[in-house]
Amino acid sequence: MKISGNTILVTGGGTGIGRGLAEALQAKGNQVIIAGRRRAPLEEAAAANPGMAFATLDIDDPEDIRRFAREIVQAHPGLNVIVNNAGIMRVEEVLKNPDALAIAEATITTNLLGPIRLTSALLPHLLSKDEAAVVMVSSGLAFVPRADTPTYSATKAAIHSYSISLRHQLRGTPVQVIELAPPLVATDLTPGQRDNPRAMPLTDFITESVQLLENQLDGGEILVQRVMAQRTAEAQGKFQAVFDLINPR
Ligand SMILES: NC(=O)c1ccc[n+]([C@@H]2O[C@H](COP(=O)([O-])OP(=O)(O)OC[C@H]3O[C@@H](n4cnc5c(N)ncnc54)[C@H](OP(=O)(O)O)[C@@H]3O)[C@@H](O)[C@H]2O)c1
Repeated sequence: MKISGNTILVTGGGTGIGRGLAEALQAKGNQVIIAGRRRAPLEEAAAANPGMAFATLDIDDPEDIRRFAREIVQAHPGLNVIVNNAGIMRVEEVLKNPDALAIAEATITTNLLGPIRLTSALLPHLLSKDEAAVVMVSSGLAFVPRADTPTYSATKAAIHSYSISLRHQLRGTPVQVIELAPPLVATDLTPGQRDNPRAMPLTDFITESVQLLENQLDGGEILVQRVMAQRTAEAQGKFQAVFDLINPR
């Protein structure tokens, strides 16, 4: 995708990776709209970045997605890029958590059905543009799972697979499909993660990702160096070694 002159929606843009991407993309000369459920972080991010727009959205709710899609296109007819970044990550231990199934179902609704529903609602609009893009945020865990978050890891593997098929179906249209697969990044996605010394600092992740977006005009997968061990584990015959590293016995 071109790196400036777009109108970009970032779901989950009030915090973490979403906010980092929103700020970096605004600095590159894009109109950015951030969305999420909680108004406070959105307001705070918009106030800190004059010109950034925001709108509330509950990506778990199909009716709210339809309402949001109608309103966003009306308010921002130039919208040509969506970044499907909103997501949740919950530990789900099937032998210990009595609510493991509820966590699994909620995770699929937010992380998999959410981006599919929003993309489907906005695709006709994106197809009307000269240049457009759908960015899907997956994860290194799409390639080697974390066993205590089985459904989270599975939704990210599904997002990876979905992105490949969507890219194939949309070849020959103005809509590029880009997958952004972060490694462990220091955000509040899970308790204590922001202070995890093994996590990649957020600003480093955003800088490297936006550089890749800028240089990789043909889209494809945006993979920072830190995620390569997970992304290439299977192909290099190192799946079990990387799995054991991520999932100590
Ligand atoms: N940090 C990592 O290590 C890492 C690694 C790989 C992939 N990722 C992916 O990166 C994305 C961003 O995560 P993050 O690390 O930046 O964590 P985060 O700060 O917790 O961001 C998640 C965002 O999603 C929004 N969200 C959650 N449920 C939503 C819903 N039902 N409707 C609308 N928005 C919703 C949240 O806002 P509200 O709560 O206000 O709705 C929040 O802004 C996620 O897809 C995550 O899976 C993160």
